[in-house]
Amino acid sequence: MIDLSMQYLGMKLNGPIVVSSTPLSESLDNMRRMEDAGASAIVLTSLFEEQLELESRALDEDLSRGTESFAESLNYLPDLRDYRMSHEVYLEHLRRARAAVSIPVLGSLNGVTTGGWVRYAREMEQAGVNAIELNTYALATDRSQTSAELEVQLLELVSNVCAVVKVPVAVKLSQSFTSIPHLCARLEDAGARGVVLFNRFYQPDFDIEAQEVRPTLHFSTPSELLPRLHWAAILYGHLKADIAVTGGVHSAEDVLKAIMAGANVAMMASALHIHGIEHIGRVLADLRYWLEKREYASLRETRGCLSRRSVPDTSPYDRGNYIKTLSSYSLRQTVAAF
Ligand SMILES: Cc1cc2nc3c(=O)[nH]c(=O)nc-3n(C[C@H](O)[C@H](O)[C@H](O)COP(=O)(O)O)c2cc1C
Repeated sequence: MIDLSMQYLGMKLNGPIVVSSTPLSESLDNMRRMEDAGASAIVLTSLFEEQLELESRALDEDLSRGTESFAESLNYLPDLRDYRMSHEVYLEHLRRARAAVSIPVLGSLNGVTTGGWVRYAREMEQAGVNAIELNTYALATDRSQTSAELEVQLLELVSNVCAVVKVPVAVKLSQSFTSIPHLCARLEDAGARGVVLFNRFYQPDFDIEAQEVRPTLHFSTPSELLPRLHWAAILYGHLKADIAVTGGVHSAEDVLKAIMAGANVAMMASALHIHGIEHIGRVLADLRYWLEKREYASLRETRGCLSRRSVPDTSPYDRGNYIKTLSSYSLRQTVAAF
């Protein structure tokens, strides 16, 4: 039997597929089905900073930045109260989840300021979480704010949380940083044990008839995997922190690509919403079949084999890729024209 186990955040996982943060994990029954289907860990849906602030009613004074836009974003999310669990309910769900499944359960904190994060991270730890994922979805809309300031804010947040919890902390990053390798190295110095590549950027759509801006949520497609592969492949071998890929993982091929790029685990959300939780089992069966056919003894043997460090020609990962891609396209076009 092929060994599919992988190491992630200091834990030995029984396979490469982690269920990423989604409301599917708000049901214990779903979590049991995820485990039965072969998920090796589950990241719970996020506890949002905005939701915590709503609960504590300490909105107005304490925010260190972006008070105005923060208040606007709350207006934009009035239903947070309705569809997200309160923090007490979240912690209770976490305790029950730990008892319901034997695979690791990761808590998820989503926000941009330190605020009460340290406290909530500690509470998650006390509730028995195996690790914490910090989701730092922040958008710079203020022209006076520099990218360096944003990074410092993020690093402070991570280092404050890492200083108070013993469980490993992974940071779910946005793709919109100028130097991702440098940032990841600094996150590692701040105590992060893993980086999760990447948050999806949910852009609102326009309704031109009603002249309204509307939030949209589309499930991902496998094409979204490519930038994640690219960055995982660049980071592999240059970080002590583990790498998780989230975004566009739908099939066994996608899982293999993520691991070959250098990821420790591949995460799934959209594919489970589209095909159902049992899809995990089908992907694992395909993965085993692929590996067995090529006589691999373990999945780990493939890790990083297509990383930037491992391939003889690194140009696909560098500027060379850009030039090659553009010139090959114009060549094809020319041939087609004749
Ligand atoms: C319905 C839905 C809800 C989500 N909620 C969260 C969340 O609470 N916190 C979070 O960090 N990511 C959340 N995500 C993002 C996923 O965890 C994942 O990173 C993203 O969807 C990309 O992976 P995918 O291509 O497998 O969907 C959510 C995704 C979906 C589809």
